[in-house]
Amino acid sequence: MDLPNLDLLSHVPQRWLEVAEKYLKAIPQVRSRLDKETGTVLAHLEKRLKPYKGTLPSFDRLPAQGRPRDEVLRELEGLERREETRWKEGHVSGAVYHGAEDHIAFVNEVYALHSQSNPLHAELWPSATKFEAEVVAMTANMLGAAEANTGLPPEQHICGSLSSGGTESIMLAIKTYRDWAQETRGITRPEMVLPISAHPAFDKAAHYFGVKSVRVPVGTDYRADVAGMRRALTRNTILLVGSAPSFPHGVIDPIAELSELARKRGLGFHTDACLGGFVLPWAKRLGYPVPPFDFQLPGVTTMSADTHKFGYAAKGTSVVLYRGQALRSHQYFTATEWPGGIYFSPTFSGSRPGGLIAAAWATLVTMGEAGYLEATGRVLETAKALKEGISAIPELHVLGDPLFVIAFGSNTLDIYKVMERMGTRGWDLNGLHKPAAVHLCVTLRHTQPGVAERFLEDLRAAVAHVRENPGEKGTMAPVYGMAGTVPFRGLLSDLLKKYMDLLYKV
Ligand SMILES: Cc1ncc(COP(=O)(O)O)c(C=O)c1O
Repeated sequence: MDLPNLDLLSHVPQRWLEVAEKYLKAIPQVRSRLDKETGTVLAHLEKRLKPYKGTLPSFDRLPAQGRPRDEVLRELEGLERREETRWKEGHVSGAVYHGAEDHIAFVNEVYALHSQSNPLHAELWPSATKFEAEVVAMTANMLGAAEANTGLPPEQHICGSLSSGGTESIMLAIKTYRDWAQETRGITRPEMVLPISAHPAFDKAAHYFGVKSVRVPVGTDYRADVAGMRRALTRNTILLVGSAPSFPHGVIDPIAELSELARKRGLGFHTDACLGGFVLPWAKRLGYPVPPFDFQLPGVTTMSADTHKFGYAAKGTSVVLYRGQALRSHQYFTATEWPGGIYFSPTFSGSRPGGLIAAAWATLVTMGEAGYLEATGRVLETAKALKEGISAIPELHVLGDPLFVIAFGSNTLDIYKVMERMGTRGWDLNGLHKPAAVHLCVTLRHTQPGVAERFLEDLRAAVAHVRENPGEKGTMAPVYGMAGTVPFRGLLSDLLKKYMDLLYKV
């Protein structure tokens, strides 16, 4: 696909571009060209996303008679066998953080034992609420609560909830700040200030809860720019955000300075430790340079830390933490007039999976401090070797100074072609943009013997191939390239919505 060079338009104000885009899209020739290009990209994607089409039974309505269980189990086993190879062998960035067979078997056994439980019915399943309270307390204490709570009454202690994942934890915190600011400050047009590197879950929260998201460029080290964020504060600002570390470049924002800025102005501060919450405390104990990022800092008022990432629990849980119950109470929902009885629910879901909560609890108590220390040591050693190996490839450079999420780019080659070439060797890496780069989030999967060496060997070969074949266009590389430079954001957003439609196609 030939894509126009749109770099020139990057200096035109975004608002003008949005208007121009609206008019351009209304021109029939432009519309039909766009539809054609979109159709080509989607047809290519459909082949990759629907590999089972025509090879497995597919259902768009209920079968008249239920299928035999053993037949369904065999089908599921076959799918799992086919799909597990890549992540089991450590070819994937992030995604599966532990993945050892005995660990998975244990977590599955715990889930199976508690698959029917639901903390919505606290009297029926007091075990589920016990597990939830203990996962929250263990996570809080790992993240500085013991120090922060000293000398304070229990209601001012660090507290929290279990959610379904990092996104829900972040959304709960933003909704909580919105209601807190409205009630205590009378702010009706709330804004939050965050670095451009913070996860899109914050924009999603902004979109859902009517909070303006004010994104500030990061510094040359890819960390949040404290002075820039200070300048972005207004009378409507309710919180600031920093990541420990950020998803794109794996660097830790200057949380001490940012949270102090927030504290002095009476604002909230959220440390997004979804990725690093279960790594950084252990990294610090192992002697790695970890700046303060948690509740030991008096200005940090909320945090998110994902049990389902480096907490090594099953997918579907995360912890959101608050400095004191008064703040957390803005997260809660109660209904007192419903004919169905009095109703209350702490998080977004009503019913919640007690099995997953039990699995998170069982993971934490079987890993213990020693287990997390050992696992973190292995991840960080492997990441160090990978970082050095990537930096030694003359065409590549590592972005910033990361610990375990290693982003790299190139000043001489199209990095997306390198990523695509790695794809042909089975590697599934994350494409980043602004600037163009690729990252690998190192997990326990990469600590298996030979995986890091194979990665570096394949990366050297991929770089050599792209260098020696400058005329080769690649299939997805131009799309990635376009995503980073196209000034018409609406076009890209339309394409992504069509992609989601495609996911729902039977
Ligand atoms: C820093 C950070 N925050 C938030 C999230 C969102 O987490 P989830 O995908 O569990 O919703 C991620 C996911 O990778 C992340 O890396």
